[in-house]
Amino acid sequence: MASIHIAAQVGEVAERVLLPGDPVRAKIIAENFLSDVHQYTAIRNIFGFTGLYKGERVSVQATGMGIPSISIYLHELIEVFGAKKLIRVGTCGGMNENIRLRDVLIAQGSSTDSAVVDKVFGGAINFSLLADFDLLRKAVDAAQALNLPVKVGNVICTDLFYNDYDDPNGTFGDGKHTFNDKLRRYGILAVEMESAALYLHAAAANVQALAIFTVSDDLWRGERCNVKERETSFNDMIQIALETIIQ
Ligand code: HPA
Repeated sequence: MASIHIAAQVGEVAERVLLPGDPVRAKIIAENFLSDVHQYTAIRNIFGFTGLYKGERVSVQATGMGIPSISIYLHELIEVFGAKKLIRVGTCGGMNENIRLRDVLIAQGSSTDSAVVDKVFGGAINFSLLADFDLLRKAVDAAQALNLPVKVGNVICTDLFYNDYDDPNGTFGDGKHTFNDKLRRYGILAVEMESAALYLHAAAANVQALAIFTVSDDLWRGERCNVKERETSFNDMIQIALETIIQ
């Protein structure tokens, strides 16, 4: 039985799933990192593949961008296909001067301006959206073993890529600090658009999840990777994610 948005039969999707947003990146990951690759879906050109990494079955499922899109795939992967370990491999915008283009970051926690948490908890609780500790520890260890530097911390998961929150006149709270300045002061490393949904779905279903990012945009210096770099320059992150997910 396929699900509405994923054409696979049950059993075609592995319990371990990497989650890039971009279908082209999903294809690149499957072709370059997995063996015995089988494509199980192309609905909406949102591709999914299953293959082997060091003998272990791993799937790579594209999710599209943003909380609504990834939430559809998370629901179907977990509820229909039985996914148990989910690692997002995405891009983010670095928010402070210590973060550079192509750095690898791991979201220990995800803060969000999205209403999804309120909708689940009725506004009564600010539920903490956290990485799975076991996966987080394994990812940090894997990065160290690969001699790849990573930064771990809190990210902001926003609903809008283009927003006017960062009003130069100051719109956040005290009227002196812009939204991004305030988040920066509170230790937010980066902005992205999917981790809150990942950590929320994982908590709800009691499965393991982690979000790893490559910095594709440097919001501190105003630099961005080009389209080609966005598709291809993410090998360090994929390596860390694969070494983590097979353990
Ligand atoms: N903003 C939000 N999400 C992102 C960005 C950004 O600049 N870069 C990559 N994902």
